Amino acid sequence: MNAPAKKVVPPTLLFCFVFLFFVPPANAQGDGLALTPPMGWNSWNRFACNVSEDLVKSAADAMVSSGMKDAGYEFIVIDDCWQISRDSNGNIVADERKFPSGIKALADYIHSKGLKFGIYSDAGTQTCAKRPGSRGHEYQDALQYAAWGVDYLKYDWCNTGAENAQAAYTTMSDALKSSGRPIVFSLCEWGTAKPWLWAKDVGNLWRTTGDITDCWDCKKQYSMGWTKILDLQDGLETYAGPGHWNDPDMLEVGNGGMTTTEYRAHFTLWCILAAPLIAGNDLKNMSPEIKEILANKEVIAVDQDALGMQGRRVRKKGDAEVWAKQLKDGSRAVALLNRGAADADISVAWEDLGYPSHVSANIRDLWAKKDLGKSSATFSARVPSHGVVMFRITP
Ligand code: GLA
Repeated sequence: MNAPAKKVVPPTLLFCFVFLFFVPPANAQGDGLALTPPMGWNSWNRFACNVSEDLVKSAADAMVSSGMKDAGYEFIVIDDCWQISRDSNGNIVADERKFPSGIKALADYIHSKGLKFGIYSDAGTQTCAKRPGSRGHEYQDALQYAAWGVDYLKYDWCNTGAENAQAAYTTMSDALKSSGRPIVFSLCEWGTAKPWLWAKDVGNLWRTTGDITDCWDCKKQYSMGWTKILDLQDGLETYAGPGHWNDPDMLEVGNGGMTTTEYRAHFTLWCILAAPLIAGNDLKNMSPEIKEILANKEVIAVDQDALGMQGRRVRKKGDAEVWAKQLKDGSRAVALLNRGAADADISVAWEDLGYPSHVSANIRDLWAKKDLGKSSATFSARVPSHGVVMFRITP
């Protein structure tokens, strides 16, 4: 007689079991931080080394009173020059003249406003402004930041000699992870070692270029205008997503070097790029026009869309460009950008958005905050010189 057949679990069932219990859900993203591009304010673009606890506190106050917090901004980040030395135990020391109450008290103040607190260091021996860097002190600094209540670290790349970028950033990333506090990690390596290829699990955002400066398209030794930076983002869109973003640098909106039209274009394109929105102006003394740009909720919603797709240039003809970003509900945010010296008509074609041309779609102008009715196949608008028209196109 044959022995009774053994009960065998069919391999497909076994696979389902293993898959259900051991494979993380598809939406699990890295450390769970920065699932949409970080939004906040940083002292550098406007104040450079002139930082103090009064300045930072007043920026936090203005973020709340201006309505920017309400629009989604949350991090208040002190950039370079808050630190002055290390003590005999190697602990980082804040400049007492500028921060007499200490960093912990400042973090507490920012938290009391319902905001989050960010700080700056450097992977080298010294920061770019020649303050002490974190090299050799990564774990000690990460513990200090956690004890102070830091929520965000921008980590620069000056004075790093022959250090390997991936290794150096991984060391600080590990140090932050072991500090016991969730800290958003912003890599400021200027794109030299192509962080988009390796930093997805190291940090939450990475600079892709040298520094931005407050002009339309100028070029300086270490910095450039925003349209120059924009051109360098083309092609990087596949590397961004929830928890890990390309960072084309902080905003210059409101710093005085451009017109309101140009600032609106700069902000629009940063939102199409799903860029971190880190304001870099004087929040306490901003004009209503600048506030209107920085706090436009419908435009910010494009940047913060949960799908987390970075937009890209879909058409370029001379100075006329069309940029588009796919959104979670299937609609598209579209920016018509006029880089020329005269006003121009620019159109977007459905085929550039991935829609069949017969599809009828609603057009909403996000700056005018107006529904413009339905269209199919194409839509055109008059775009001012150095300006944008921005739509949300919903089939
Ligand atoms: C570098 C960074 C800037 C700023 C300065 C501070 O240039 O790229 O964003 O942090 O250092 O010194």
